[in-house]
Amino acid sequence: MDFNFTPDQLALRKMAQEVVAKEVIPYVHEMDHDGKMRPDLLKKLDDAGLVSLVVPEEYDGPGLDAVTIALIYEELGKGCAGVATSVAANALASYPVILVGTDEQKKHWFDVINSGKLAAFALTEPGAGSDAGAVSTTAAKDGDDYILNGTKCFITNGGIADIFVIFANARKSAGIRGLTAFVIDRNTPGFSVGKEEDKMGIRASNTCELILDNVRIPAANRLGREGEGFKIAMRTLDAARPLVGAVSVGIAQAAFDAAVKYSKEREQFGKPIASFQLVQAMLADMAIAIETARLLVFKACWLKDQNLPFAKEAAMAKCYAADVAMKVTTDAVQVLGGYGYIKEYPTEKYMRDAKIMQIYEGTNQIQRLVIANQILY
Ligand code: CAA
Repeated sequence: MDFNFTPDQLALRKMAQEVVAKEVIPYVHEMDHDGKMRPDLLKKLDDAGLVSLVVPEEYDGPGLDAVTIALIYEELGKGCAGVATSVAANALASYPVILVGTDEQKKHWFDVINSGKLAAFALTEPGAGSDAGAVSTTAAKDGDDYILNGTKCFITNGGIADIFVIFANARKSAGIRGLTAFVIDRNTPGFSVGKEEDKMGIRASNTCELILDNVRIPAANRLGREGEGFKIAMRTLDAARPLVGAVSVGIAQAAFDAAVKYSKEREQFGKPIASFQLVQAMLADMAIAIETARLLVFKACWLKDQNLPFAKEAAMAKCYAADVAMKVTTDAVQVLGGYGYIKEYPTEKYMRDAKIMQIYEGTNQIQRLVIANQILY
């Protein structure tokens, strides 16, 4: 077992740290307040190669392995989980194309991503959250075309993406086996962006409703086979969940670092609060939790990179790291006390950001179901 990273991985992590320190951290408060990314940030991240991490080499991308991507996402998560979410949603949306796209579909998709534009993965609907198979958006076959109708909600990058993977049901009577994936360009007639959500955390990321009103697309835009959509969505989520874990580890690490720093500076009863054993115990528990979550994230990514089964470990990594992020950020607020609760200090934002990690890309209750299914059946 080798816990060392390669020189390339270390160089990429250092580069990500530097970009985050220069381009993200100074603007975190402003982006959180405004509820959006600063306008030129995406371009700066793209110039650094951080937006197109999952693009394969044969489509002019870096073709990075999952472990390396997790290393970078942890750094983005440390800087701003909202920014990390926007970048990670690009990867999430790209996985269906990587998994089942034709060469032509891949060329089109990666041309868009390589030009610095964002993508979005549109599965969730008001009536299809945890029950992803209950998608009610329809895809009716009409000659060589499909006509899509329906509404998607909570779509990360929905309002700012240029290209989308949309899941719709092409055979209602077949239920889950009718679900089908399609690629849609933003300017397709009938396709529009609805309400933008005003969120508790990850406020730098964009979350919107999408409306499909008689959207006509050629059958060439279908990803994989008709009825294959549910499995494509599940395999995509398997690939993306460890990366939610990586962002969660980043949030937890940033909150922990702030708590350690503060505990050494803050004096009560005539000494730094770090000298009190009850504070030390909290810091030690936080450190244990972060380290175990990180190991689980890397294990899931490593299994994926080895082409070994990894769905159970992906769910474990996402679930555990998200729970760790929630607990560690809550404890970091506790270490900072009253100061932890005000916006002048970074910890309250970490706590708000951590919450969504337990909800999106499958709630932690769903992760536990996925893990139990893998154990039992
Ligand atoms: N890989 C391949 N196939 C899979 C699979 C996987 N990981 N998981 C299930 N399948 C297959 C099953 O084998 C089964 O196939 P057969 O019919 O051929 O036997 C089929 O899919 C149906 O499986 P289930 O019976 O297990 O399906 P289910 O309806 O019970 O649902 C679930 C399972 C795990 C609850 C699933 O619905 C789920 O993961 N829900 C959560 C959805 C989710 O994560 N949404 C997140 C949206 S994206 C997001 O949040 C992004 C963002 O904005 C940041």
